Amino acid sequence: MTEPLKAVITGCGGMSGAWLNAVKEIPDVTMVGFVDIREEAARKRAEEYGYTDAFIGTELPRVLDQAQSDVVFDVTIPEAHTDVTVTALKHGCHVLGEKPMADSMENAKRACATARETGKIYAVIQNRRYDSRIRRLKSFLNSQPFGKLTTVNSDFYIGAHFGGFRDRMEHVLLLDMAIHSFDQARFITGADPVSVYCKEWNPAGSWYDHDASAIAIFQMTDGLVYTYRGSWCAEGLNTSWECEWRIVGETGTATWNGHSEFKAQRAKQAAGFHSELETLEVPEVDAGDKQGGHKGLIREFVQCVRTGGTPETVCTDNIKSLAMVFGAIESADQGKEIEITW
Ligand SMILES: NC(=O)c1ccc[n+]([C@@H]2O[C@H](COP(=O)([O-])OP(=O)(O)OC[C@H]3O[C@@H](n4cnc5c(N)ncnc54)[C@H](O)[C@@H]3O)[C@@H](O)[C@H]2O)c1
Repeated sequence: MTEPLKAVITGCGGMSGAWLNAVKEIPDVTMVGFVDIREEAARKRAEEYGYTDAFIGTELPRVLDQAQSDVVFDVTIPEAHTDVTVTALKHGCHVLGEKPMADSMENAKRACATARETGKIYAVIQNRRYDSRIRRLKSFLNSQPFGKLTTVNSDFYIGAHFGGFRDRMEHVLLLDMAIHSFDQARFITGADPVSVYCKEWNPAGSWYDHDASAIAIFQMTDGLVYTYRGSWCAEGLNTSWECEWRIVGETGTATWNGHSEFKAQRAKQAAGFHSELETLEVPEVDAGDKQGGHKGLIREFVQCVRTGGTPETVCTDNIKSLAMVFGAIESADQGKEIEITW
């Protein structure tokens, strides 16, 4: 029988629990090392999850030498992602890392280049794609129920009192959260970004130091326009964390509330001012392995390491979602439309 892949996790803070819970359910991977600049955090996680023989340390290269791992899970803070990734790739490990891929486009490109040079996989967690509900929407849209897509709107309004680093962070909504929504928009439509105009602001009464609200208009490929309206500083009538979506095509519209409510209508025939409409079913689909959030992504990554496949969120694709984030930030800073490149 093949031995499970050996994994080292670096960054043993809040989010590492979601990773380690998922790993417990995937027999083909086991933890052999825990790294954190706070050694006690690494030790605590190893003990909590019962990996008593794992190597513990504050220096990734040292733990990689000791543990001889196949893969590295990067759950550090965004500013550390590129250094962790480049170090791990150069040590011969494949890397699956947390979003956002990097804290700048320059760093994201550096990580992509290192993955290419080393021939190792570097993929990024975008757990909101690995969800049976968004797979259902995507499958419906793939069937082209109402011609070419013309317009996609997403709304994200949540009054989130984190009380930690996010309260002090610049571009908190765009950097820390909108990466999920922008990646979802690319996933749903299959379109890539062309340009963006964005306004960012901090609403009156905000408990954040910097801008926690944003509205962005993206020109996407194939003539599609995608709009994002969001706030982490909006009390009451919260949307889902997955956003509320409206997708308009040439002859019809679908909505998804980010939970389990899907609606779709299409023009049946012209009938005066309003066309005669028909209601469409958005059929349930079997999302197979492409669900379960972190678990789905880790499982796919492990399979790709085994078979030489390419994960859906490989760095060379994910950098396009990141480019939407940094394009929006640049546009907000400069007060003008920005071309998006990667
Ligand atoms: N996918 C999601 O839904 C989701 C949700 C929350 C957070 N995240 C992401 O997960 C990552 C971690 O977030 P968190 O909430 O766990 O943060 P956290 O601050 O709780 O934990 C980060 C840990 O990384 C450690 N660390 C920092 N720099 C390091 C370095 N150079 N080497 C080793 N360890 C280092 C810190 O000591 C800390 O223990 C972030 O990128 C965040 O955006 C993703």
